[in-house]
Amino acid sequence: MRATAIAQPNIALIKYWGKRDLERNLPAVGSISITLRDLFTEMRVELDERLSADKLIVNGSSDETMLPRLSSCLDLVIGGARPRAHIESRCNFPIAAGLASSASAFAAATVAAACAIGQSLSNEALANVAGRSSGSAARSLLGGFVELENRETDIVVRTLCDSGRWPLTVVVAITETAPKAVGSTEAMEISRKTSPFYSNWVERQDQDLQTARDAILKRDFEQLAAIAEHNCLKMHSVMWASRPPMVYWNSATMRCLQTVRKLQGDGHGVFFTIDAGPQVKAVCVPECAADVRSALVATEGVADVMVTGLGDGARLVKAP
Ligand code: PMV
Repeated sequence: MRATAIAQPNIALIKYWGKRDLERNLPAVGSISITLRDLFTEMRVELDERLSADKLIVNGSSDETMLPRLSSCLDLVIGGARPRAHIESRCNFPIAAGLASSASAFAAATVAAACAIGQSLSNEALANVAGRSSGSAARSLLGGFVELENRETDIVVRTLCDSGRWPLTVVVAITETAPKAVGSTEAMEISRKTSPFYSNWVERQDQDLQTARDAILKRDFEQLAAIAEHNCLKMHSVMWASRPPMVYWNSATMRCLQTVRKLQGDGHGVFFTIDAGPQVKAVCVPECAADVRSALVATEGVADVMVTGLGDGARLVKAP
């Protein structure tokens, strides 16, 4: 009654922001992401009849913050009357700081929990369970370029292009390692209720998805760069115009954008994207990765830089 799974975070190029159904955690819009290779969350789930409550250890220390959401995730996979679980997680990057740690955590937890009870769930079922725990987690089940389709009653994820077919590099500039002050679910609801740009954001998403899908299928870097930056800035405009405003950027975030603009001006194939946090992800062609990395390391306020290729989806590392 135990299993261990590993999953990588994913970075959205066409973003999900806003929920259509809060109860079932269904997104208001579809999204497209890339799954990373070198950042990971490993999740070990062991069900034990002798335990009276679930226990969670994250990177060696007991963690109460994430426990309720993980317990609910196990309930969804196994059922509420399940034995309690000892959950142990290892993560090699900052948690809850806008680096999609919840996506990799819930994708890994879903896969491990299903295996721990010997249940073989379809991709669709895994996607809906993972997605219910964290909207972006379903995308981490798959590798490469992944589209999350927002269907009437559920979500569906599919790979648009394998990581090997278009091996881009992602340079992550970390400008702050502390967890964010407002979580994405709360911030999305504030945007939905108060941002004057929210309905326009939802209406235009299909157009952005179509442009990005087309760019990915053609492997057209310029087209993907333009639509990804536009979609990212549009999402942040929705956030900034919310009441109260949701501003996740700091001054180093802005300086990183200027660094990326300078690199583009010098002819480098690179573009930026930013999620609900102050980190900047610079997506580039592999030949430019060294220059992009040096330029971001030299940018004032950048605390750390991580470089990664694109990777595969969630998978088991140890069967029961
Ligand atoms: O999955 P959540 O609830 O952490 O929301 C993710 C929201 C963004 O990262 C800002 C965008 C996205 O599509 O990943």
